[in-house]
Amino acid sequence: MKKINIAIDGPSAAGKSTIASLLAQKLGYVHLNTGAMYRACAYKALQQNVSLEDEDALVDLLSHSVLEMKNDGSVILDGKDISHAVRADEVSLAASCVSKHPKVRAALVRKQQEIAENGGYILDGRDIGTVVLPDAEVKVFMTASAHARALRRLNQNQEEGIATSDLETIEKEIEERDYQDTHRAASPLVQAEDAVCIDTSDLSIEETVDRILDLAKPFLSEGDVK
Ligand code: DC
Repeated sequence: MKKINIAIDGPSAAGKSTIASLLAQKLGYVHLNTGAMYRACAYKALQQNVSLEDEDALVDLLSHSVLEMKNDGSVILDGKDISHAVRADEVSLAASCVSKHPKVRAALVRKQQEIAENGGYILDGRDIGTVVLPDAEVKVFMTASAHARALRRLNQNQEEGIATSDLETIEKEIEERDYQDTHRAASPLVQAEDAVCIDTSDLSIEETVDRILDLAKPFLSEGDVK
C-alpha cells in the first residue's frame, strides 16, 4: 500500500517528538520535527543579532541559509550540526517568537510540504493537521497537563545534559509558550476538526504509540509495523 503521512500536533513538551520518532522506527517512515525548523531560524537570529520582531529580516535570514533536516533527525544549518544547540531554553522562547510571523511560517511550511510530498512521513508541530498537511491520513492532537510536560522536559534535559532551569521555571515557560502559540494570529495552535485528541498525562510512551498505530491500521498492510 502507498505510504501515508501522519500529522501530530499539540502544545510544547507533550511528547510529540518522542512518539513520532518511535512511530517512524516502527513503520520505516521518516520523522520530521517541524519545531526544530523554527528553532533553527531563531538560533540563527540570536547568533546574528537579528531582531525576533523583524519579520522581513528573519525571512531574509532564512533565504540566505541552508537548512537541512536529515532523516536521522539532525538539524544542519549552513553545514553546521545545531541539533543540540537548538534545544536550549533560550532558543525555545525565541522560536515561539519567530513562529508568529506569517512570512516565516509560509517559508517553512513550503519546505515541510515539499519534504512530505510523497508520503512516508510523520510530522510533528502545531499546524500540521490544519495547514501543512490538511490531507494527512492520520491526524493526532497530543496533549498533557502543563505539570506533566514540565516534569518530562526536566528529566529529558537532565538525561541529555542540556542546560536546564528548575521545574517551576520550566512549567511557567511552558505555560507562557502555550499562551503565545495559541493566541498568535497566524496559524495558532488548534486541534484540526478531524484530529483525534490523545491526552498523554497518564499514558506511557508505548500506550501512546499503540493508540496511534491503531488509528493508522486501516491504511497499513500486514507486516508494515516492525
Ligand atoms: O515543537 P517545539 O517546541 O520544538 O517548537 C518550537 C516553537 O516553534 C514553538 O513555540 C511553536 C513553534 N512551532 C510552530 O509554530 N509550528 C510548528 N509546526 C512547529 C513549531
